[in-house]
Amino acid sequence: DTSFAAHVANQFTSYEIDRKSASGDVIYTTSNGAPIPHPYESQRAGENGPLLLQDFHLIDLLSHFDRERIPERVVHAKGSGAHGFFECTDPIPELTSADIFSAKGKRCPVTARFSTVGGESGSHDLARDPRGFSVKFRTESGNWDAVFNNTPVFFLRDPAKFPHFIHTQKRDPATHLTHADDSTMFWDYLSNNPESIHQVMILMGDRGIPDGYRKMHGYSGHSLKFVNKDNDWVYVQIHFKSMQGTGFITQEDSAKYSPDYSQKDLYEAIENGDYPKWTVEIQTMTPKQAEEAWETQGINVFDLTHIWPQAQFPRRKIGEFTLNENAVNYFAEIEQVAFSPSHLVPGIEPSADPVLQSRLFSYPDTHRHRIGVNYVQLPVNAPRTGFRHGNFQRDGGMAFYNQGGRSNYLSSIDPIQFRPRSVDLDKTHSDFTGRAVTFLSEIRPEDFNAPRALWQKVWDEPARERFIKNVSGKMELCKKKEIIRRQIAIFREVDEDIATRLEKVTGEKGYDGIANLEFNGIYNGMTKDVKL
Ligand code: HEM
Repeated sequence: DTSFAAHVANQFTSYEIDRKSASGDVIYTTSNGAPIPHPYESQRAGENGPLLLQDFHLIDLLSHFDRERIPERVVHAKGSGAHGFFECTDPIPELTSADIFSAKGKRCPVTARFSTVGGESGSHDLARDPRGFSVKFRTESGNWDAVFNNTPVFFLRDPAKFPHFIHTQKRDPATHLTHADDSTMFWDYLSNNPESIHQVMILMGDRGIPDGYRKMHGYSGHSLKFVNKDNDWVYVQIHFKSMQGTGFITQEDSAKYSPDYSQKDLYEAIENGDYPKWTVEIQTMTPKQAEEAWETQGINVFDLTHIWPQAQFPRRKIGEFTLNENAVNYFAEIEQVAFSPSHLVPGIEPSADPVLQSRLFSYPDTHRHRIGVNYVQLPVNAPRTGFRHGNFQRDGGMAFYNQGGRSNYLSSIDPIQFRPRSVDLDKTHSDFTGRAVTFLSEIRPEDFNAPRALWQKVWDEPARERFIKNVSGKMELCKKKEIIRRQIAIFREVDEDIATRLEKVTGEKGYDGIANLEFNGIYNGMTKDVKL
């Protein structure tokens, strides 16, 4: 078809065409498509004169180059990713109406991104840090983003602490040093916020430096809600279990590897056809069980610093995902991918966990800043629903998909269609208000149970020794003795043995326990005579 209309239609090329074309198929042009014989042809006044303002080709080149950087992610800036697919192996229509879990063999495309947390985009892949583990499931009913970490718990349960905590993981505002050189801020925060202890134990233990991204698990950490077609619902914790197993690298060995170790490992495995896979598993809790767990065991489903005991709430497999395709263009497909815990689909709802609730807001907010208001229009972020979708969002920067000529308001002349809501919003768990929801930062004796189990039951003696070495090594870089004394007191609440060993190595005597300590305005529930 050589008509002008066909010619114009062909110009609205899709990303997929560009992605597949090789340089040999392409003719060199300026950004407006005008062919230029060679890129090294700057226009000058005469043989040796200054450059000409009319040389759009050179100005086009330089001015685009000048704008190549977008802000890096404020956290999780260093990352790697790949594409693949999810397959449902054990459907759960009785638990959720999410279409992707409705039938055995049901598949959807996925994009995953793994990351370290605190470092900048050029930082070392083998930093001792939690790892991000995000997966975008492009389901028939919209994109569902699992924005997980490789640890089941987190440092805090009060979202207001997040920027404070993260700032202590970043460069010092005065010295511009990171905690690799000066750990004073790092320990200052942790020694003032003891609810971080479980995550600190994991961080300083073997799991603090996973052996690349393929050999680690992912955890929702937060409780989510699965809602079925009858509006019955359960709380869920989601686990991604690495089918490669897990592996770790010691602190000493980490220095021997390339800063891009995990990127290389993931990329090369996929190029070699050794596709990494994870199972998707869930733990569930009914609202009634959640109330009982709080009443009898002090387990609060909204508390991200705690796990659900697996003996009581066993895991159950629902599917698997495989990463079998590397990005063709890292920037377009991985740097610009935008995950959000609020990108949910019918059948999956957030719980009232305050940290999750804050995240629902924070991610799209940062995407609008980092990528732009129309970030969802980028090919890697655009939903691929099983139906034509649309809404009334129009215009804004870079609106290249602006919903054509369809009505931009709720029109009676050109009406849009609606799908009935599948969730009865009245059936929420409004009665469950555990105390920790109000006193987000209260420290309780239960906060030390899981870390104690790690030390006493999960780790063997060499793992304990590595932990003491990692902690004491990090403490050597702390300039304030008082901070060390407090942090040792927190470890003493986990197990006397940890405190004694640290005291021996650091030469610093920690406080007896935390009952008499004050924590930056937090309620210390370990102090007997303080009343709420
Ligand atoms: C990235 C905020 C807690 C997992 C980010 C980003 C922000 C953010 C602003 C950068 C996103 C971007 O630029 O694309 C917060 C806030 C939190 C919080 C405000 C608490 C109040 C958590 C928790 C988890 C988590 C608890 C895991 C359970 C991630 C991951 C990424 C990320 C995996 C990287 C996403 C990617 O690969 O693009 N977070 N975060 N965050 N966060 Fe959080």
